[in-house]
Amino acid sequence: MKARKIDEGVFAFHADVDSKYFEGFWSIPKGVTLNSYAIVSEKIALIDLFRVWDTSLNQMNEQYKDAGIKLSDVDYVILNHLEPDHTDFIRDFCEINKKAKILSTAKGASLVEKFCKADKTRLEIVKTGDTLDLGRGHVLDFTEVPNVHWPETMVTFDRASSVLFTCDAFGSYGKTGDRIFDDEFTEAEHEAFESECLRYYANIVASFSTFVKNAIAKFPNLCVNENAIKIIAPSHGIIWRKNPLTIVERYIKYAGYNTGSVCEKEICVIQGSMYGYTKQGVAAVIDGIKEVAPNAKITVFTVPDDDVSDILSVAYKAKSLLLAMPSYEYKMYPPMAYVINLFNRKHFTGKNVMRIGSFGWVGGAKKEYEDLIAPLKWTQIGDYEWQGVPSEEDKKELFERGKEFAKTIM
Ligand code: FEO
Repeated sequence: MKARKIDEGVFAFHADVDSKYFEGFWSIPKGVTLNSYAIVSEKIALIDLFRVWDTSLNQMNEQYKDAGIKLSDVDYVILNHLEPDHTDFIRDFCEINKKAKILSTAKGASLVEKFCKADKTRLEIVKTGDTLDLGRGHVLDFTEVPNVHWPETMVTFDRASSVLFTCDAFGSYGKTGDRIFDDEFTEAEHEAFESECLRYYANIVASFSTFVKNAIAKFPNLCVNENAIKIIAPSHGIIWRKNPLTIVERYIKYAGYNTGSVCEKEICVIQGSMYGYTKQGVAAVIDGIKEVAPNAKITVFTVPDDDVSDILSVAYKAKSLLLAMPSYEYKMYPPMAYVINLFNRKHFTGKNVMRIGSFGWVGGAKKEYEDLIAPLKWTQIGDYEWQGVPSEEDKKELFERGKEFAKTIM
């Protein structure tokens, strides 16, 4: 992997990571890329760092050399966001470099101390409207964008190159390999990245969608005129220099999914079944849906077999959810309770939802389900339970309910 020049004096460094999980529990079978940046002018600034993860240190060190940067010469480190995937290297950096100032927002200051273990005298706090002049036109503008992804987050704009460095915002899962710019990928590769982008958004960013909308609103000229931001440089995934509007529009769309108002007309089925009786009920509902909407897009997941990262990705964009789980010890089947707990944490509001499931003695799933979903403002399209194996009458009823449910995506 080589350092890539974005513009005169502006470099991108990237490291592919093959970790099993992101944030310790989201599966990333296609890996993730960490991007770091540098502006080399009369002064040298690094923008966001990386986690010392697998081979990332070697990958980055080679690229700093490519760009002719000696870490001991760096004057500033700009930390747009303090999560350790972008800051873990700072402790090593501070051993190598004894002079650079570390720039962060006021909210980030305590994290610079606690996470980075950096000497407080090196910290410079910046806020929206502050600038940093690196010479030869490279004036940096800082804008706070709280909660995209943590409360301390900001973005940095370089006036000379018109690059906006956005850290987590506009990022994605998926390794980019030797390439990094949007114009270096085929249409098919972009499709694969789009799916990883949605999965990243649903897993990491979805909870903060209101803040995403607020952040985008702070840049009304994003990609629309001559003076606009020309390049979007996130710290995960592709750098957008040919079609930056693509990733902006994608994030606007994803942020809209959060309230349920602009979701895709499709159904996400999530089923859990101990002995197959609840699955029989699901089959009857799906037959009913197909009777009314033969071309309906229906994606079926089974818990605990399918990965929650994938489940969240599809469920997040879907207008309607069919949740099917048996009762288990007077409560919900535990793998389904875990998924609904995640929906709650990620604020997946405004869905149309049907819940069904079998029970052995007295049920109990319904009560726990209703308690869990109370904050989510879901429109409940029926709730149906049966004891043991579904009878022919149960299946007929579920078929009819499936026909009604189909109307939610028409
Ligand atoms: Fe990529 Fe919120 O860290």
